Amino acid sequence: MSSLAVEVNGLAKTFGGGAPALGGVSFSVPTGTVCGLLGHNGAGKTTTINILSTLIRPTSGHALVAGYDIVRQPGRVRASVGLAGQSIAMDLLLTGRENLVLFGRLRGLHRQQAKARADELIEQFDLADAADRRVMTYSGGMQRRVDLASALMVLPKVLFLDEPTVGLDPRSRRDVWALIGSLRLQGITVLLTTQYLEEADVLSDSIVVIDHGQVIASGTAEDLKRRVGTSYCQVTPANPTDLPQVAAALAGLDGIDIDTDTGSVSVFAPDGVATLGEVFRRVDALGVELVDISLRKPSLDEAFLHLTEQRTVARS
Ligand SMILES: Nc1ncnc2c1ncn2[C@@H]1O[C@H](COP(=O)(O)OP(=O)(O)OP(=O)(O)O)[C@@H](O)[C@H]1O
Ligand SMILES: [Mg+2]
Repeated sequence: MSSLAVEVNGLAKTFGGGAPALGGVSFSVPTGTVCGLLGHNGAGKTTTINILSTLIRPTSGHALVAGYDIVRQPGRVRASVGLAGQSIAMDLLLTGRENLVLFGRLRGLHRQQAKARADELIEQFDLADAADRRVMTYSGGMQRRVDLASALMVLPKVLFLDEPTVGLDPRSRRDVWALIGSLRLQGITVLLTTQYLEEADVLSDSIVVIDHGQVIASGTAEDLKRRVGTSYCQVTPANPTDLPQVAAALAGLDGIDIDTDTGSVSVFAPDGVATLGEVFRRVDALGVELVDISLRKPSLDEAFLHLTEQRTVARS
């Protein structure tokens, strides 16, 4: 396989007569890395994953997955990839173990091989207690874990995960994060979608942001944060009850935002240290005790909102 596991060039998809779901998307994922596909609901993430895993055909454009053309060599692509889709693809009437063995058989494993691999994954995904019950009796999080396991019955070269941690409790989410990290160490390329920006930040070597079927930004999490350009000035009073007073003193400055989770108030700092000075003077006049006042780079959440808002303004 070349140094790129996924190469997408001008991929477009129109369903029926509506606006295109994808309007010419291009990006690439180096082999052995994790790429996070980010975007609002309806941005085109699932459509991209479904085209790359050959479930649907593009209207135009090209893509190579594991070196194979998704339109001309769909069989080869399918043999090289694993997919855990946004909706669970399990036979609810079968047990978790039966589903895993079935997936293994479909991927060409002999019965004994499939059983042995299912045993390993049941252990790894902490499903031993439930493995011999019908999947219809599982909780949502348990169903998602079996679904993920089924995509790993035969280790793929490229793994597509469409919102892999939706509905998982925090511990299971961390387990999936660890799993993705270990797959990456084994040289498996992962393309995942997520609504959790924190997750993309933690897991991904690169991030592609799509909005209304277009790539609007790509790069590392740090690149995206830098794209926002402006930094923020953040003030944290010692006593959270002083937050409204601090916010009132900063009224009129751009981008003012009160974050009760961190107990701080942020404003855009387009002039860097000069803005910091202005903020300091205003807050100092209050006589409120502070634990911190500092310039900081935008979080990935702020970068994402900034990038997609810019596009909304440009379109209107
Ligand atoms: N089978 C289909 N028929 C018609 N329109 C579709 C179909 N699948 C997707 N779309 C449309 O394509 C657009 C992109 O959908 P897609 O499922 O790719 O978004 P998404 O980014 O995965 O969103 P979400 O975060 O909600 O999963 C949406 O406007 C959706 O309505
Ligand atoms: Mg989706």
